Amino acid sequence: MNIKRITFTICLLAGAFLSAPLISSAQHAQAVKATQFTPGTIWADNNGVHINAHGGGLLFDKGKYYWFGEHKIAGGAGNRAMVGVHCYSSKDLYNWKDEGIALPISPDSTNDIAKGCILERPKVVYNKKTKKYVMWFHLELRGQGYKAARTGLATSDKVAGPYTFIKSYRPNAGFMPFYPEGTPDADKVDCANPKNKSEGFFCRDLPGGQMARDMNVFLDDDGKAYHIFSAEENFTVDIAELNDDYTAHTGKFSRVYAGHQTEAPAIFKRNGIYYLIGSGTTGWDPNPARWFTAKSIYGPWTYRGNPCKGAGAEITFGGQSTYVLPIAGKKDAFIFMADKWTPKDAIDGRYLWLPITFKGDDIEINWAEKWDLNVFKK
Ligand code: GAL
Repeated sequence: MNIKRITFTICLLAGAFLSAPLISSAQHAQAVKATQFTPGTIWADNNGVHINAHGGGLLFDKGKYYWFGEHKIAGGAGNRAMVGVHCYSSKDLYNWKDEGIALPISPDSTNDIAKGCILERPKVVYNKKTKKYVMWFHLELRGQGYKAARTGLATSDKVAGPYTFIKSYRPNAGFMPFYPEGTPDADKVDCANPKNKSEGFFCRDLPGGQMARDMNVFLDDDGKAYHIFSAEENFTVDIAELNDDYTAHTGKFSRVYAGHQTEAPAIFKRNGIYYLIGSGTTGWDPNPARWFTAKSIYGPWTYRGNPCKGAGAEITFGGQSTYVLPIAGKKDAFIFMADKWTPKDAIDGRYLWLPITFKGDDIEINWAEKWDLNVFKK
């Protein structure tokens, strides 16, 4: 090949390269069908865009999983709700299709879910009786920081929405806790004489309803649904019964691990045992997770320590719990889902999904760089 020819060939190659569309790593990732989970990396949706569904929850509906989560924007402003609740769907849990915004925030600044409010940890359940999809979320009114501590409700006839905002409030106003059999007398509240800080907050909030921040919704096998939330300035987790339509609290609830400050509660059930996984309260920074078990949903719940094992266990591998997914049709298959928050650039938050390992009735969560659903076969 003479010099002229070599130059010509180089030019041709360079031309071809330059005219080719630049493929970002995210686009590349989605072009190849995903066959495994890679916790903490960019998870591209069907458009090659990092999935934007933080603090999320999943619903299995007619053969598909739907993932609902907080849509975050770039920068620190992304810690407030500027867009709404984003929804994605998947048949295999690895590859996700963007279904758009399921619940948009309101452009009306007087609305409870006005742009700039804080709308966190949305969870959706389907109500067979009303045939409605019911979404609950943690709501902080615009401009009030984390003071309002309300729960919000939206419903839809279609799984991916659009959802209609119904109301927001503090639950169980005027109701004293329910004490399951076995509750020690020392754990019962007397508002004439609150024994500690958490009982003080409980009694303070009794007339107007309990604070409701980090949360989940749990659907039991008997069709009953429960709202689980950090209450009493996060000192206690409340497990509260929802009515048959799943659209209101009934006033029956118990207090779990009062006085210890638990956030990010996620709940599941296996072999008749209820499991609760939560975190400590260090804002966006990770801390050790904690788990509890109980024979009845209302408790008494037993504290079991940190379910995470190995390097990174003391900071939940950099994440904070958001949901535990029972895999449809598989026995003993549960995914622990956590968020790795990036508050300085909220949109860049990552998803840490890890399998839960059972040792008898005990659980363990171990870090895995990559894994797939075959781990549940073993
Ligand atoms: C976390 C909580 C998040 C968010 C954050 C705000 O502890 O789990 O959902 O509320 O605090 O600092």
